[in-house]
Amino acid sequence: MINKNVEKAINGQIVVEGYSSNLYLAMASWCEGNAFAGAAKFLYFHAEEERLHMLKFVHYLNDRGGHAVIPALDAPPKDYKDIFVLFEEIMKHEEYVTNCINSLVEVSMNEKDFNTANFLQWYVMEQVEEESLFRTILDKMKLLGQEKTGFYLIDKELDGMAVTTAAPKV
Ligand code: FEO
Repeated sequence: MINKNVEKAINGQIVVEGYSSNLYLAMASWCEGNAFAGAAKFLYFHAEEERLHMLKFVHYLNDRGGHAVIPALDAPPKDYKDIFVLFEEIMKHEEYVTNCINSLVEVSMNEKDFNTANFLQWYVMEQVEEESLFRTILDKMKLLGQEKTGFYLIDKELDGMAVTTAAPKV
């Protein structure tokens, strides 16, 4: 039976991953409505990836004899100033998720739940990849400039990146 503190912490992370999925879905919808088809495609894929992050926790917790609770989620923001600000928000959010995963590792180590600590290593590495991906996108946006032509070019770039870097890995 999984330790109760670890169970509570994993249920907390299910909320975070579920919110991430909805946040990127809301951002994808904004992009789609503002003629950024490439960014929308990229973010729709990424929303699916976050849903899989959530599901992986759900299955793990239930497999360990805990109870994965499917939560109600806060509504994400629906409007964004521009696409650069939107991706800055993603970067901040992913840094927050990294901190959450690290705290979860800490709880599992404190409780001597080494199975969970081991399971979490996948998420630790995933966060390295996610932060690197969004940092790269922001760097490209800075190079291309934050006005109409730059936004148009980054949208094309994101269209190409959608399948290779944002699609769920199955
Ligand atoms: Fe599930 Fe983007 O972290």
